[in-house]
Amino acid sequence: MVLVSMTLIWITAKAQVKYFNVMDYGAKGDFVTDDSVAFLKAWNDTCNAETGEPTMLIPRKQFFLRPTTFSGPCKSHVYVRLLGGLLAPDGPKEWKEFNDVVKFIEFESVTGLHITGVGLINGHGKGWWDISCRYHPKLLDCGKGAPTTLRFHKSNDIHMSQIKIVNSPQTHILLLGCNGVELQDLSIISSGVSPNTDGIHIQQSNHIFINNSFIGVGDDCVSIGDGITDINITYVNCGPGHGISIGSLGLDGTVSNVSNIHARHILFNGTQNGARIKTYQTGRGQVQNIEFTDVTFIDAGNPIIIDQHYCGAPNACPPTKAGVKISNVLYSEMHGTSTSDVALNFNCSENVACTDIKLNNIDLKSSTRGERVSSSCNNAFGEAIGTVNPKSCLR
Ligand SMILES: *[C@@H]1O[C@H](CO)[C@@H](O)[C@H](O)[C@H]1NC(C)=O
Ligand SMILES: *[C@@H]1O[C@H](CO)[C@@H](O)[C@H](O)[C@H]1NC(C)=O
Ligand SMILES: *[C@@H]1O[C@H](CO)[C@@H](O)[C@H](O)[C@H]1NC(C)=O
Ligand SMILES: *[C@@H]1O[C@H](CO)[C@@H](O)[C@H](O)[C@H]1NC(C)=O
Ligand SMILES: *[C@@H]1O[C@H](CO)[C@@H](O)[C@H](O)[C@H]1NC(C)=O
Ligand SMILES: *[C@@H]1O[C@H](CO)[C@@H](O)[C@H](O)[C@H]1NC(C)=O
Repeated sequence: MVLVSMTLIWITAKAQVKYFNVMDYGAKGDFVTDDSVAFLKAWNDTCNAETGEPTMLIPRKQFFLRPTTFSGPCKSHVYVRLLGGLLAPDGPKEWKEFNDVVKFIEFESVTGLHITGVGLINGHGKGWWDISCRYHPKLLDCGKGAPTTLRFHKSNDIHMSQIKIVNSPQTHILLLGCNGVELQDLSIISSGVSPNTDGIHIQQSNHIFINNSFIGVGDDCVSIGDGITDINITYVNCGPGHGISIGSLGLDGTVSNVSNIHARHILFNGTQNGARIKTYQTGRGQVQNIEFTDVTFIDAGNPIIIDQHYCGAPNACPPTKAGVKISNVLYSEMHGTSTSDVALNFNCSENVACTDIKLNNIDLKSSTRGERVSSSCNNAFGEAIGTVNPKSCLR
């Protein structure tokens, strides 16, 4: 009797899923045909379905798409089952036809979105990297409009898992104006020397959970911009790349407000920085309640760093009377090897001190056998608990 009713429940649950397969809307999935119209039709029906568990199904084929926005609001929660590949136009030449320099795939104004599957999104970024300002500052059009691969804009209650995103022209995943986002079991991979290819960039968004993911890119693993509260990053393996960055904040005098960021169980492997907070001298506002716990470094540069003198270009940032106030930052259970001599670097603003910095059981050694690492403090206040190596210089 129990078995029978369980089977019935299972059948009922299955029957509720309503699939909208892009192939039924004319998609070819042959690598070259522009399938974006078929995708938009499938999305439209998925988004307009009022009952069931409307699911846009993308089967195991390779779909070439032009830059595409999937807009809400939808009539109910929607599901995207991505099993195949989504291929972006290949570099700036192919992109030119499309008159869109912002993104490859975008979800906009959607509430309640679940993206799952084992699929791949390929940003085909190499052609963009080749004209980047970082490597070709003299090129007239260097870096102009390298697009983001996957952008979530003004969307809430977003869940994405298992997807792999590779070779983005610029940022791989951008969260802009979003509330409540769960990203789990992702792989985000680009060359370690690809310019400005942040793994996940978060801006003007709250309540973000990033878990169990691998991020190896050419820029920040996760970067956190202005106007953010409540972000948890756990079990993330970063490297190559520039580490987890709060900032750069305060460009051109922006008032920043960043709070409640927790990064736990993180590996930085061969990253240029580790746990980093960076602000421009012109910035205002505050960064508070930040935590890095259970962090391992393998040959990371600047494993623990606060840089309040960040500047995009040499001599472009004269001293000011401003400063972003940084307070209540906990660094706990962090160990491993540093490629830079200064392993603990709290280079705070001369105008606004960093306060309530806590170091708890930190053990950093040089990547070079026989070398020692040191700590450096500028206007930094707080306390050290347990063993702290190199010795704390906090006042
Ligand atoms: C979108 O879906 C609605 C309702 O399902 C339908 O009436 C409309 O024609 C569709 N629009 C497009 C462009 O497919
Ligand atoms: C982050 O973790 C804290 C507990 O440390 C919890 O209160 C908060 O709800 C979590 N937020 C998210 C978005 O997961
Ligand atoms: C986060 O990922 C880990 C796997 O490393 C998993 O054990 C844990 O359940 C996940 N957390 C949540 C809240 O899903
Ligand atoms: C900054 O964030 C705090 C919460 O941490 C909030 O109380 C305050 O109103 C925010 N200020 C601005 C200007 O957004
Ligand atoms: C660190 O990165 C190197 C080079 O990519 C890799 O060979 C090694 O397995 C990584 N270590 C861990 C613990 O992930
Ligand atoms: C702190 O920042 C100043 C200004 O950019 C720089 O000259 C100095 O070298 C930095 N100190 C450390 C230890 O990084």
